[in-house]
Amino acid sequence: MKDRLAQAAAEAQANAYAPYSGYKVGAALQAEDGRIFIGVNVENASYGLTNCAERVALGAAVTSGARRFDRLVVVSDASPPSAPCGACRQVLAEMGTDMVIEAVGPSGSRSWKLTDLIPDPFGAEDLAP
Ligand code: THU
Repeated sequence: MKDRLAQAAAEAQANAYAPYSGYKVGAALQAEDGRIFIGVNVENASYGLTNCAERVALGAAVTSGARRFDRLVVVSDASPPSAPCGACRQVLAEMGTDMVIEAVGPSGSRSWKLTDLIPDPFGAEDLAP
């Protein structure tokens, strides 16, 4: 049986709006306080305006006041399960790189620490004069 976070991501995947790529993604982010926030990819006819599931989940979390996260589960139909894209790695890293990311697909799952996926993200400290 799937854990609660993986279940939430799998349920969200069904709502992904991916009429152009056909590649549906569901994401579920667990905050340090236990709350779960979900997201799906939302594509656009102007392709470059597409939002990935991971960034939609992060936006939902921040909207509700969550900024510290333990885990992110991403569900897609990719085999092997695919890691978040570079843009999402950078955006997730804004809130810290301690979280564990798990990618789940029909052939199983893989997991990483965010810090291993993006070891040297651009950060607030880089903006210091
Ligand atoms: N996509 C995600 O939502 N998350 C990922 O980790 C990789 C890519 C979406 C963007 C686009 O809607 C579709 O998958 C194909 O790239």
